[in-house]
Amino acid sequence: MPATAPVRLVIIGCGSIAKGGYQPRCLAYPHLISLHGYFDQNRAAAEELRQIAGSGRVYASVDEVLADPEVEAVLNLTTLGGHYPVTLAALKAGKHAFSEKPISITSAEADELIREAAQRKLKLGCAPSSSLGYEQQSVWVRIRAGEIGTPHTVLGSFACSRLECWHANADVFMTTGVSVAADATPYPLCVMTTYFGPIARVFGFARNTVPERTLQTGPRKGTVFKPTIPDHVLGALEFANGMKGMLYAGWSGQSEFPRLEIQGSEGAFSVHPHNDGMGIRLLSAKDHEIHTVPSPAKAFPKALDWGKGVADFADAIRRDRRVRCSAEQARHLVEIAERLNESSRTGMPVAVTSRFEAMEPIGDVAPWEHSGGQAQAVGR
Ligand SMILES: NC(=O)c1ccc[n+]([C@@H]2O[C@H](COP(=O)([O-])OP(=O)(O)OC[C@H]3O[C@@H](n4cnc5c(N)ncnc54)[C@H](O)[C@@H]3O)[C@@H](O)[C@H]2O)c1
Repeated sequence: MPATAPVRLVIIGCGSIAKGGYQPRCLAYPHLISLHGYFDQNRAAAEELRQIAGSGRVYASVDEVLADPEVEAVLNLTTLGGHYPVTLAALKAGKHAFSEKPISITSAEADELIREAAQRKLKLGCAPSSSLGYEQQSVWVRIRAGEIGTPHTVLGSFACSRLECWHANADVFMTTGVSVAADATPYPLCVMTTYFGPIARVFGFARNTVPERTLQTGPRKGTVFKPTIPDHVLGALEFANGMKGMLYAGWSGQSEFPRLEIQGSEGAFSVHPHNDGMGIRLLSAKDHEIHTVPSPAKAFPKALDWGKGVADFADAIRRDRRVRCSAEQARHLVEIAERLNESSRTGMPVAVTSRFEAMEPIGDVAPWEHSGGQAQAVGR
């Protein structure tokens, strides 16, 4: 296998984010990623992706994917209930795996996946990849260079408009897993913890604010359901390095709570925790003004580049190095969601015990740029 051959990868779970995000952006990195095929429990969804790409095999089952010796890696884009079992099956079959977030429902399941990958010397990565955005990386460089003095506080949120109004399977999201924090706050949390390391203690409030909802879109439009997990979470955070933070997550409506703001002794940065190309603002303590600071020219235009984490994962497979969007960091984010619920139940602050090694900054030339090609302008 030449070092530059793209990794042959199969998408399992061919729904909304596979079609709108990952497929077009994986096709943009052909020097690193080869979309070898597709599987979905709804065969029509897999057929549709193959038709869009114009190539690739449609598989009849997960087992058939995993039995194919041509397949090197699985991109797990199923909904939450499929994350742990599909990723575990892939690892046990000797395939590298990259999962959508959260990596699993419980942190114990994440521990098992990490052990399995380590034992088999396989790469295991997990979304979100928003820390790899050029703007998010640029702010990280500027913080390390001291532009806002000593950072002390970080505020983040992910409160999207009512999920059932735009997602055909909103009921699946609100009846599986830990809470909205596990599904939505990985965006601000992954950037925060990339900048400042693990969180050591949380104090949380988790509850349901909209007890009954109706699907407004998709083939099951009109279906009434009751969320069984908290749809609204507030948290106070204490980082292992002593920094403090606040987190807000909800499936109940938009919010103007900062999506990601980092406060320091000499100023503050504001940057989007999900999309690249949204602009960087510096709130200066010197002149008390808000400045727009230049974005890197390479910033992806007002969106998350869904292919970037997978491209870094593929490069890590070929170079046998650490995956930047690591399973260990993803496990930490699952534990934070668990501990926020526990704190809400007990009324007490709760320790978060998992730790992870910080990712390497992408540097001046990102791994997806130096691996033998340039991203192609597909699906931007
Ligand atoms: N839609 C978004 O905007 C968005 C954004 C970021 C992340 N995500 C994440 O991506 C994941 C998928 O979300 P989505 O919006 O694409 O959901 P979706 O419901 O639109 O698609 C999921 C697909 O996976 C298939 N599936 C589920 N379990 C399966 C299994 N065990 N085996 C094979 N196929 C299976 C379903 O048939 C469906 O086609 C979720 O974890 C979600 O949190 C979604």
